[in-house]
Amino acid sequence: MQFEKSFSKDADSLRSSPIRAFAALINDPKIISFAGGAPSPETFPAANLAELARRVIAEEKNVALQYGPTRGLARLRECVANISESRGIRSSADEVMITSGSQQALDLIARALLDPGDVVLVELPTYIGGSAAFFARRAELAGVAQDDDGIVPESLDEVATRHRGAGRRVKLLYTIPNFQNPSGRLMSPARRRAVIELARKHDFAIIEDDPYGELVFDSAADTMPMKAGEESGHVIYLSSFSKVLAPGLRCGWMIADPILLRRVEMAKESADLCSGMLDQAIVAAYCASGELPQQIGRVRDFYRARRSVLLDALEQRFGSRARWTNARGGLFTFVTLPDGTDAEAMLPKAIEAGVAYIPGASFFVDGSGQNTMRLTFAKETDERMRDGVARLARLFFS
Ligand SMILES: Cc1ncc(COP(=O)(O)O)c(C=O)c1O
Repeated sequence: MQFEKSFSKDADSLRSSPIRAFAALINDPKIISFAGGAPSPETFPAANLAELARRVIAEEKNVALQYGPTRGLARLRECVANISESRGIRSSADEVMITSGSQQALDLIARALLDPGDVVLVELPTYIGGSAAFFARRAELAGVAQDDDGIVPESLDEVATRHRGAGRRVKLLYTIPNFQNPSGRLMSPARRRAVIELARKHDFAIIEDDPYGELVFDSAADTMPMKAGEESGHVIYLSSFSKVLAPGLRCGWMIADPILLRRVEMAKESADLCSGMLDQAIVAAYCASGELPQQIGRVRDFYRARRSVLLDALEQRFGSRARWTNARGGLFTFVTLPDGTDAEAMLPKAIEAGVAYIPGASFFVDGSGQNTMRLTFAKETDERMRDGVARLARLFFS
């Protein structure tokens, strides 16, 4: 059968991530990789998780090995409600849904809210997995400017006004306020307030995607979610255990208005009935063990040290010839190279030189960003990061 002729319009809108296409390079030990976005396996509490996995399978097989509720394992939703409380978000377990990673929440929200042609406002640059979920619903993505304080409110207002003025339905803003992927930026509290004001003015919902807020390296950084204290229901909050525990445990969550949550739950039912119960049982047991705060502390220390090595190397080798974001948390810094540099065109040469990065243009829905690249400090040792930055400096500046 010739399936090419049978694909739906939705299937034709699916986009595969250019980052996933880099997987072979990311895992080739000969290449020093600043590409990829996965957490370091060195941060996974594997021995502890192995013991908990054994225990929940042996002692709770009717839960851990059985189908479960679509909304998620009740005791994990309780844990999540407590974690959210510590982030300033008052919610009961009833307002929480567990999803198969926060990626699934993005997909389900897009299914519940978007029709073809609806407008989704996204940051320039933005997370590719978010864009992919919206493109899959045949939405139109409109870019909004960011600076070092996050979304520029004037740009958001202008883009929303323009699209509404053209008779378009602006349904959603997708934002990652804490240590954004890919830029590493932290949105300031004033900007967060301004963005919420604009959501009310133009009546669009905000997806606040927060997988990195706990990976904060600087105690002065204000990571308080927009969802905290926001009563009007405009903010849909997403987070995940992927970056603090392990992404192979596909456990993310969503906190949202009950009416939206119910509709998303119906979408989830047809997607997978429920998220993996074994994963949920292990994560719930981990939370119940009281280990999570120490684990988060260890993960922060690990990435803080790596971040400093990368930023110091950039300072030393790139100096004033490029700019990069400060990365007060998260896994990434984003580098702006001199005007006219084409980071994508340079990548094959970089790989020849034994070093890989993600060209930044893939993160910009408006086709800009050719002279940018994303670097992660999650993957390589200190030594290899210093070596990799030296190689990049030779490539770009000599
Ligand atoms: C901004 C952002 N959102 C969502 C995800 C998906 O995370 P997960 O589905 O593992 O929770 C990622 C993963 O890198 C991400 O960077």
